[in-house]
Amino acid sequence: MAFPDGTADFRSDTVTRPTEEMRRAMAEAAVGDDVYADDPTANALEEEAAAVVGKEAAVFVPTGTMGNQLAVMAQTRPGDEVLVDELSHIRNVERGWGPAHAGIGWRTVATDGGRITPGQVDEVMELAGSMFPRVTLLAWENTHNLHGGRVVPLDVMAETSARARRHGLRVHIDGARIFNAEAATGTKASEFAATADTIQFCFSKGLGAPIGSIVCGPKDLMDEVRYLRKRLGGGMRQVGVIAAAARIALRDRERLVEDHHLARYLAERLAERWPGTADPETVETNMVRVDVAALPGDIGAIRQRLAEDGILTGAPAAGWWRLVTHRDVDRADVDRLVAGIAAD
Ligand SMILES: Cc1ncc(COP(=O)(O)O)c(C=O)c1O
Repeated sequence: MAFPDGTADFRSDTVTRPTEEMRRAMAEAAVGDDVYADDPTANALEEEAAAVVGKEAAVFVPTGTMGNQLAVMAQTRPGDEVLVDELSHIRNVERGWGPAHAGIGWRTVATDGGRITPGQVDEVMELAGSMFPRVTLLAWENTHNLHGGRVVPLDVMAETSARARRHGLRVHIDGARIFNAEAATGTKASEFAATADTIQFCFSKGLGAPIGSIVCGPKDLMDEVRYLRKRLGGGMRQVGVIAAAARIALRDRERLVEDHHLARYLAERLAERWPGTADPETVETNMVRVDVAALPGDIGAIRQRLAEDGILTGAPAAGWWRLVTHRDVDRADVDRLVAGIAAD
């Protein structure tokens, strides 16, 4: 359902607001100074999150960006390169921050939906460490945001990560939306995570918590991540007030499948009405990619009209318009969106 003021926001799943249950839990959270490891709610969250993804330990962080940055800092040395899909968030949005924080460079490959192949790893490693910089980390993204919320299948991750390990690389997963991958495929997040040393995931996207992400991995590496978090000024004190909401988000992760059904419904309505705008078959999770050229009018005018009716959408990029479903929109909002596009 739209927000209480009637706004239906399709820009991102990050716009989700905390539920009443989360707000109550936040108000009532037991807290302590987390820099002294005294916050019982944050400690419980870290234990629960590590268990869910099958890792030894976890460190709660304010954002997915910080989670990725810390994972890269902890697993590389300045001058190293990190192997990534060219459209990955860590390379394409965080961009210069990895080089600034960790002193690394990016070694990018073009992929189908974020599916880096073992052959690409071999190719990159051919000259790495001799005439070219060392490549020491492979970073996945699952689900893949800029590839339209697509899932990188477990067998692809397992095979390519195994090849990377054979070359001596460590492996990180930007799993900002790993539970969307779980909900879409039935493959457990822990199975995806088992292909990597570290994984970060976000509570603040489709899971609906107001703030927070977490990095999970082996205990010694998480000790280093905790130290680096403090070094960057991310040591939080009575952080249980936000960890409380994150615990509820983690518990309720299976509901993400509803967002996927809604995205499919949206793609079907669009494809029915304007063939070529969206392909329901390619909607794997909670994102719909709309071909701007197939819309029945100018995208600027459409977005303006929708905004006047309280329907928010993101700006298109490279001819694609991304629409995202989440717990704070429903079928009635999708119907309003489609009607708004048509109203010329
Ligand atoms: C795949 C992916 N990774 C990381 C992030 C960064 O998360 P945050 O906005 O919490 O820094 C995002 C944000 O949208 C994302 O989509």
